[in-house]
Amino acid sequence: MPQYQNIVILTGAGISAESGLATFRSSNGLWNNHPVEDVATVEGFQRNPAYVHAFYNELKQELVKAQPNPAHLALTRLQNEYPARISIVTQNVDTLHEKAGSRNIYHIHGQINQAVCQNCGQILETFGDVDTETVCPHCQIMGMMKPNIVFFGENLLCMDEVDRLLRTCDLFLSVGTSGVVFPAAAFVQIAKLNGAETVEFNLEPTSNNYYFDRHIFGKAGSTLPAFIDDLITNR
Ligand code: OAD
Repeated sequence: MPQYQNIVILTGAGISAESGLATFRSSNGLWNNHPVEDVATVEGFQRNPAYVHAFYNELKQELVKAQPNPAHLALTRLQNEYPARISIVTQNVDTLHEKAGSRNIYHIHGQINQAVCQNCGQILETFGDVDTETVCPHCQIMGMMKPNIVFFGENLLCMDEVDRLLRTCDLFLSVGTSGVVFPAAAFVQIAKLNGAETVEFNLEPTSNNYYFDRHIFGKAGSTLPAFIDDLITNR
């Protein structure tokens, strides 16, 4: 019997930093030249959908080139070599967990390679451009596509399943997230109060650290593979 049966890993922008992607709250963060109210809110999208589409089309071109780093690959190794249910709940809209070959991935903030039709709800999967003239392949209506990114003011995706996983996990890892954006910032609390062991991986202490049993400081590309090696060896 392995030590853990149900492992949940919450990932944030920090896990993709070593793949060359800027984190949100760093000085050269993704929103630096774009006010968050313009590119990541429902009102911003209603005000100027063409501008918001252009922002995500450009970001898509950057994200499509990025490659997974040892932290993403370590999670895939864990899924392949540790006999437990292992779920990755990511706040990241990049697709580096998929590129690393991971499975059971829950994109609670959406994903860059998807757009959703606001008329019929159909998801369009594409790494190509989407704009105000894109026609929904399902309902054939033009101009109703929205990047499938959860804007401030919108509900997170997959939350019923994620909530169930958090309440039943026995090990919760948080990797590269500042823990300031709710509700994801409260996931550690749910896991801990339901009996999970909790470990945080970050460069530095975060403001949201009360419910973590352990903190492992350093770059996730080094700390996470070492931790996972140990888990697999001592399972
Ligand atoms: P942040 O930019 O807020 O935080 C990134 C965290 O990663 C920081 O705490 C860094 O210290 C840490 N970090 C950076 N490099 C690291 C490395 N190599 N190894 C380990 N840790 C590292 O990003 P998130 O917490 O992901 O929402 O931000 C949460 C949400 O804020 C995002 O998903 C985004 C934004 O609103 C949407 O896009 C919907």
